Amino acid sequence: MKTMLALTLSLLSLAGLAAAAEPAAPTKAAADAAAAPKLPARSKIDWEKMNDGQRKKYMKATVLPEMKKLFVAFDKKYKSMSCQTCHGSKAAETKFKMPGGELPKLPQATDRPGFMALAQKKPEAAKFMGTQVKPAMAALLNLDESNPTNPKGFGCYSCHTAEGAPTPAAAPAAPAAKPAGGGW
Ligand code: HEC
Ligand code: HEC
Repeated sequence: MKTMLALTLSLLSLAGLAAAAEPAAPTKAAADAAAAPKLPARSKIDWEKMNDGQRKKYMKATVLPEMKKLFVAFDKKYKSMSCQTCHGSKAAETKFKMPGGELPKLPQATDRPGFMALAQKKPEAAKFMGTQVKPAMAALLNLDESNPTNPKGFGCYSCHTAEGAPTPAAAPAAPAAKPAGGGW
């Protein structure tokens, strides 16, 4: 049980979520693990060094198809998933800057009660995000995932903005303000 909890914790990097989801964890997690599609292997690209054209090409050839597989397995409504699903309807105007600002806003990283409430309200989505979307996307970009010891890593706030934070897409001039506690 301890190991299970530790694993859940590290997977979600979300103490609040893990704690809230814990009671139902053992059987449910086992069932989900069996059903969950395989996550993509860690790529060898150097994302930081890629230019805009290379990034677009990689997104189109690899990121979109791989992520779409996961999203469709989670919910068939994503069968028409596109660049806009992550980047928003103004993707071209905002030059695909992420976080894009049109995804649902998440509680601030320090807002534990907020994350507990989210885990209770949307347990499946929260789990899918933490155990599949975040690690898969980090692997595809060859970036380390965020966690408490690597708060600057790739995490929820690489895609979602936080409640109360300025929307980057609406204020493109502002320097990309990553939330201070971006450890998720
Ligand atoms: C599953 C979500 C997802 C999908 C689908 C997706 N992207 Fe991205 N994209 C991201 C994330 C996350 C980043 C930012 C990575 C980082 O630097 O942290 C990004 C970054 C980019 C960038 C670089 C932006 C910059 O500031 O340099 C471009 C260009 C881009 N995407 C184009 C596309 C195109 C074109 C498509 C469709 C073919 C697409 N993306 C589909 C998640 C997605
Ligand atoms: C690669 C980009 C990406 C990352 C990283 C990411 N998400 Fe998401 N998230 C999305 C997309 C895309 C959707 C679906 C939006 C839609 O359906 O239009 C979504 C949807 C959600 C939803 C569902 C909202 C709803 O109303 O149903 C929740 C909750 C959520 N994300 C939480 C998180 C959490 C918590 C994390 C970190 C553990 C996270 N996300 C990481 C891209 C991302």
